[in-house]
Amino acid sequence: MPLNSPRHAAAPAGTRPATGAAPGPLPAAHTAPHGAPLPAAHTAPHPAPHPAPRQPLLRVEGLHKGFSVDGETIRVLHECSFAVGRGEVVAIVGQSGSGKSTLLNLLGLLDEADGGTHVFDGVDVTGLREHRRARLRGDRIGFVFQQFHLLERRTAVANVCVPMVLGGVPLLRRRAVARELLESVGLGHRLGSKPHQLSGGEQQRVALARALSRDPALILADEPTGALDAESSELIMNQLLRQASDRGAAVIVVTHDPAVAARADRSITIVEGYTRDG
Ligand SMILES: Nc1ncnc2c1ncn2[C@@H]1O[C@H](COP(=O)(O)OP(=O)(O)OP(=O)(O)O)[C@@H](O)[C@H]1O
Ligand SMILES: [Mg+2]
Repeated sequence: MPLNSPRHAAAPAGTRPATGAAPGPLPAAHTAPHGAPLPAAHTAPHPAPHPAPRQPLLRVEGLHKGFSVDGETIRVLHECSFAVGRGEVVAIVGQSGSGKSTLLNLLGLLDEADGGTHVFDGVDVTGLREHRRARLRGDRIGFVFQQFHLLERRTAVANVCVPMVLGGVPLLRRRAVARELLESVGLGHRLGSKPHQLSGGEQQRVALARALSRDPALILADEPTGALDAESSELIMNQLLRQASDRGAAVIVVTHDPAVAARADRSITIVEGYTRDG
């Protein structure tokens, strides 16, 4: 990636230094959730080696999907074909109803395509049984949804812990990771707050910390900044970009916001059920 790429543009004044800061050693939050040693590329201080050349993390070809409504099948996605590399940030854009969330659900293994090829992390997931899809999803994919989907009665720490509970991370370890991640998104002072006690931007930062808690290879974010002001939006994007540049995660962001799309490495547009790359 060229150094003058939009993702490397300096954050405007007023954004939080924690995420827009000049490169430095990774914060403690980025140690492996399981306490396992991280690969060298994930622990070295900057200048961090970008994963080069980028290996494709996912590839779809001719992916299509329809829904049955009143006995009639409505085809939403006709043919989606593209690849996304490790460390790459891709924006998915398109009109409302064009199938962006539908595509994200397929990429996140939350839903199954009707046909086509889908290879994720070297595994052909087409037709994979649900328990293996669930394992891949839990271990390798982090989700950030526009509506946050936080557990209302649980604290910020407990919400961030959810994927780690499912992944069998020991209690003390997951609490430590959750605290560190929340601190890294500027919420170290709100660890015990419940969602209704937090602003929209703060809730989205909790959701982001939750998505990062298992150090996913793929981060899928569906309009993660849709409900946020410019500063919160900037902070969320900075964190996503750091996850790609520092951790080698592939990040796919659905957005209607041209400013968000401009910071991605490239955009994929969905037009009438077909993906246009670039
Ligand atoms: N489970 C479902 N059953 C029937 N139709 C569905 C289902 N899910 C999505 N659709 C339809 O598929 C189309 C694409 O929906 P999708 O949510 O993917 O759009 P989108 O591009 O994410 O839109 P937006 O920008 O408004 O979020 C819509 O016409 C929607 O009504
Ligand atoms: Mg949508």
